[in-house]
Amino acid sequence: MAPFKILITDNLAPEGIAILEKEDDIAVDLKIGIAPDELRACIGNYDAIITRSGTSITADLLANPGRLKIIGRAGVGLDNIDLEAASIKGIIVMNAPTGNTIAATELTMGMMLAAARKIPAANSSLKRSEWDRKRFMGRQLYGKTLGIIGLGRIGGSVAARAKAFGMKVIAYDPYIKKSRADGLGVTLCEQLEELLTHSDFITVHTPKTGETIDLITAREFALMKDGVVVVNCARGGIINEDDLCDAVRGGKVFAAAVDVFGNEPLRQHPLLELDNVFVTPHIGANTFEGQEGVAVIIARQVINALRGKAYENAVNIPYMRSQLPEEMQLYFDLAESMGRLLAQIARGRPEVVELLMVGPKFKEDFGERVFDIPFSFQPFTVAGLKGFLERNLQETVSFINAPYLAKERDIKVQEAKISSYERYNDLFLLRIRTDAEEHLVGGTVFADRVPRVLFVDQFHLEMIASGRYLYFKNIDKPGIVGRVGTVLGRHQINIAGFNLSRIKGGKAVSFVSLDNEVPEAVLQELVALDGLLEAKIVSL
Ligand code: NAD
Ligand code: MLT
Repeated sequence: MAPFKILITDNLAPEGIAILEKEDDIAVDLKIGIAPDELRACIGNYDAIITRSGTSITADLLANPGRLKIIGRAGVGLDNIDLEAASIKGIIVMNAPTGNTIAATELTMGMMLAAARKIPAANSSLKRSEWDRKRFMGRQLYGKTLGIIGLGRIGGSVAARAKAFGMKVIAYDPYIKKSRADGLGVTLCEQLEELLTHSDFITVHTPKTGETIDLITAREFALMKDGVVVVNCARGGIINEDDLCDAVRGGKVFAAAVDVFGNEPLRQHPLLELDNVFVTPHIGANTFEGQEGVAVIIARQVINALRGKAYENAVNIPYMRSQLPEEMQLYFDLAESMGRLLAQIARGRPEVVELLMVGPKFKEDFGERVFDIPFSFQPFTVAGLKGFLERNLQETVSFINAPYLAKERDIKVQEAKISSYERYNDLFLLRIRTDAEEHLVGGTVFADRVPRVLFVDQFHLEMIASGRYLYFKNIDKPGIVGRVGTVLGRHQINIAGFNLSRIKGGKAVSFVSLDNEVPEAVLQELVALDGLLEAKIVSL
């Protein structure tokens, strides 16, 4: 088999490259700093690309992705990768989020101290042979309040170190559990404003998302204490750079330390002209240990993903089936089968797909929110949606692109958790609304661990949610089922199981499992039977 081809476009520590190069089924090309046009011309020749923040992977680059299956980001931030474009093309994006946590944490602490004590300015001054002790009056960390915006990996790790400096630590992060903050000895603020008004030092550690761009502007600076020290080692643009300049010039901010910028590489900016602003060229992750960490992690992950073994830290596969608890994997399969079933019986253009998760089993959330992707559905909803879409779309539908394909087609995807439904305790209800009709399918997994469909619309059944069935709908009157059996028998098609449900004197539906294939001509014969409304083969 031809080897998997991997392109590396940013500096990756040699330890990571060595891991890739020693594998027989991997061929590595290094094109560090490759120009966008050149990258566009060759990206489709590779199975995987490994980048850092120096390469922007845009929608335009991914327009014709060829054989590209994996984008590996050696680091945390995904703001240089168009996740939606990658997802629509079914390309897996994975990062190495833990490799440089300590490096970024230690730079943050260094920058905080550097700004509070003006260390870089004092250094430059003495090197100009000045001995000016009065100019370099600083502020102590001890006894002060540090406000951390974003209490994730780096924010949490900064909190632990700040406490060792004797700081009181408060944080604003609407997406973490209070128990995480309690465990770190950090007081959670309900509102950002509360953090802004109480902090002597403020540091941001959120991803750059639609919600966090311009999180700190003139309005927020106005709420801060006079003489606050502000640090940004997360992403440029979370703190508005022009407003930061004004706040420093006006004396509201005693000093600021900034490692990341809206436009990188930064060559010119008013920030660079202010004495009390200390800057570094995006070096948060630049320690030997941090770079080795991310390189080794991403190299191993990309190899595993190319071989189809594991997809660790894949950010656009909403949830890995294999990472769900065993019982939930069965519900995952059930949802996908229910989606497939609905796709085969519903007529019209789909408008709404909704999964209702019934019962205490589904109370907890499965999977973590990934901030860089706009969808945060439960895995079962994505599975149901994938099952539903893949029957009717020409393109390959995957767990990655299903929500995007639905969005492109204006299909509203909804999910909800409810405590009970009729007599059922644990149940999935998948509802489809099209411009022509609406259908509701219910299913569960009993103690025998076999996913089953329990009803289709008003028809109650108990049908195994896998395999192929002859589905037919008829008027409920004597003789029809017999005639269906006669036609099948005449064509040597053996019935293996029969699920029939009816509304007395109304309509009946049947799902018949068969030992043999049903040729199209036999289906037509069935459809022509008096009283039969429809007949088709459905695959779950
Ligand atoms: P993380 O995902 O572990 O933590 C991010 C936290 O931000 C999460 O807890 C999340 O709940 C929180 N958050 C999201 N939206 C928020 C909002 N609107 N308000 C408040 N909190 C919000 O990420 P991490 O590994 O800690 O990285 C944090 C940041 O640091 C990222 O932007 C990453 O790109 C950046 N980073 C920079 C460098 C560097 O070289 N300077 C190095 C590593 C990471
Ligand atoms: C990250 O997000 O990991 C850092 O910003 C470092 C980098 O850009 O590689």
